[in-house]
Amino acid sequence: MITTYYICSFNVRSIKYFNLNEMRKIIQSKYPSNIALVKYWGKFGNQMPCNASLSMTLSEAVTEVELTLDYKSKKEIEFDYFFEGNKNDSFRNRILNYIENQIEFKELLDHYALTIKSNNTFPHSAGIASSASAFAAISAALLKAKGEEIDDDFNRKASRLARLGSGSACRSFYGPYAMWGELNKHKEASNEYAIPIQEVHENFKEMRDAILIVEDKPKKVSSSIGHSLMNNHSYAEKRFIDANKNCEEMLSTLKRGDYEEFIQITEREALSLHAMMMTSKDYYMLMKPGTVEIIDKVFQFREETKLPLCFTLDAGPNIHLLYPVSIQEKVHTFIAEELKDNTKSVLFDKIGAGGIVL
Ligand code: PMV
Repeated sequence: MITTYYICSFNVRSIKYFNLNEMRKIIQSKYPSNIALVKYWGKFGNQMPCNASLSMTLSEAVTEVELTLDYKSKKEIEFDYFFEGNKNDSFRNRILNYIENQIEFKELLDHYALTIKSNNTFPHSAGIASSASAFAAISAALLKAKGEEIDDDFNRKASRLARLGSGSACRSFYGPYAMWGELNKHKEASNEYAIPIQEVHENFKEMRDAILIVEDKPKKVSSSIGHSLMNNHSYAEKRFIDANKNCEEMLSTLKRGDYEEFIQITEREALSLHAMMMTSKDYYMLMKPGTVEIIDKVFQFREETKLPLCFTLDAGPNIHLLYPVSIQEKVHTFIAEELKDNTKSVLFDKIGAGGIVL
C-alpha cells in the first residue's frame, strides 16, 4: 500500500502530516469492567484517589467501542455518540467534555469528525461499573487514534487518561488483578494510573464472579456525589488509613493464596464502603432488604460448608459473589436453591486479563 503524505495547509503546528490513506480511520476496542476488592471512595485534585484500591478484572462484562474519525476541514466540533445503537445526548455530552478536557485528545476534535459507537455486553444498572469499561475502551481507542504505539507504555498512558474519565476505569487495563493509588512500600504504585499485580497464587487465578441483580433501577446517588461526601466525613481519615492497610494485606493474601484472609478483607471493604455512605453528612443507603438477606445466607453457607465463597458490593444494592472455579457447581446450586427469592437475575462472569484495541 502506498502511503501518501499531504502537508496540511492549516494548523501545521499540531498535525504536520496527514496520511491520505487515513481520510477515515476506524479503531475498535474492547475493555472489561472490574470489581474492587479494596474500594476507592473519596478523591482529591484531578481525580486522585484518597486511598489505594485493588480490583479483580472481569472478562465477560465488557464495553465494545468503535471509533470512526473522518478528516474534516471545518472548525466546528463534530461529535456523535451512539450507545447500544441509539444517539444518547447525556453520554455524548459527558464524553465530549472528557475529550475536550484532555490535551492529548483535543486535537483529534480539531481535525476529525468523531463518531463513537459503544455497546455493553451487560445490562445497565446491574451492579457492574459500566463507566470503568466504557472509559477504558474510549481512552484506549482515542490514544490509538493519535498514532500511539501499542507497547508497554500504552497501557500506562491509557490507564492515566481513563482515570480522568472515571477513577475505577484505570484498573481495567490489567488482569487478573490491578492496583491503583500510592502505597507506602510500593514505589511503582501511583495515584496517576493503575499497575498490574504480578504475584498471584494459583488459588486466585481462576476466580468466578456471580453478579446477583437484587434491583435493576438506576441508583439514586451517583458515585461522584458519594466521593464528594468523603470530604469532611467524620470517619474519612481513618477510612483512608484502613483501606491502604487492607490493600497492603490483600497484596500479601493474593501472593500467599489465603482464602480466609481474602474473604475477610473483601467483605470488610464492601461493608466499609456502604458504612461510609450511611454515615456521611447527607447519609443514604443503597443496600436493599434483599441485599442483606443474601449476605446473611452467604455467612450461613460458609458456616455450614466451610467453602471459600464471599461477597462484595459496588456502589449499589447488587451482590458480587466471588469464589474459585473449583466450587462453582456448589455455588450455582446455592444460588438457584437459596438465593432465588431475592435475585431478579444473575450474570456469571469470571476473572479476566484486560482489553484489546485494534
Ligand atoms: O470510578 P468511579 O468514580 O465511578 O468510582 C467507583 C467507586 C467504586 O466503584 C464504589 C469503588 C471502586 O473502587 O471501584
